[in-house]
Amino acid sequence: MRKPLIAGNWKMNLLNSKVPAYFTDLEKAIHGVDRKKVDTLLAVPAPFLATAREHAQRAGTLIATQTIHEKNDGAFTGEISIPILKDLGIDWTLIGHSERRQYYNETDASVAAKTKATLAAGIHPIVCVGETREEREAGKMKDVLKRQMEAVLAVVSADSAFTVAYEPVWAIGTGLTASDEQAEEAHAFIRAIVAAKFPTLAERLRILYGGSVKSSNIQGLLKQPNVDGALIGGASLDPAEFGKTVSLAASV
Ligand code: PGA
Repeated sequence: MRKPLIAGNWKMNLLNSKVPAYFTDLEKAIHGVDRKKVDTLLAVPAPFLATAREHAQRAGTLIATQTIHEKNDGAFTGEISIPILKDLGIDWTLIGHSERRQYYNETDASVAAKTKATLAAGIHPIVCVGETREEREAGKMKDVLKRQMEAVLAVVSADSAFTVAYEPVWAIGTGLTASDEQAEEAHAFIRAIVAAKFPTLAERLRILYGGSVKSSNIQGLLKQPNVDGALIGGASLDPAEFGKTVSLAASV
């Protein structure tokens, strides 16, 4: 069995000044959880990265940035480079979150470029894929996932260390969660796409589910054979709720 990863994504929320208290509360909430049974990560706004890294260690939580630029330096106002991230001692990033694809024109090609650059630099990317509601209703879910995954698979190798997050866009921030069966169907499909090219990688690849995950639905999702964790937006903002979700994940 793959060890589950419970990842939070704060998006553009919380404040740097609240970060120490968040980790104090998270530490309390997950005190006693067997950390051999679950990994935890939080993707925080860039200005909080250093503070989060300092305090997250107490809660045994990895820290990630929410996006990364594929170039090492240059005139790219507002962007974060891999050397900037590494200098902070952080080696995880989200790539291609649907909000980045939707509002900042990220494409399969830019997601692939970012994935390639991070893997080459020893940064662990969590690459996000998922269909919109219109695509699902038009029966195109599998076509979309295949297209998104093939762009990623073109730049990885059998021993690459990365994670995939399946996040159906219609379930993000809407309170609409995919059913356990819908999640499992998509995850099994993604794993099969990976297995066609890299069978051993497919076996160890963690595929997280994202879209309105919280403590009340985490266990049903994690019981699915191809669901290896979660990427949690809204419900990661409250450390007690996030901690409860982590605890429940450790006991599935
Ligand atoms: P949500 O967001 O949990 O608020 O639906 C998930 C995500 O976008 O990663």
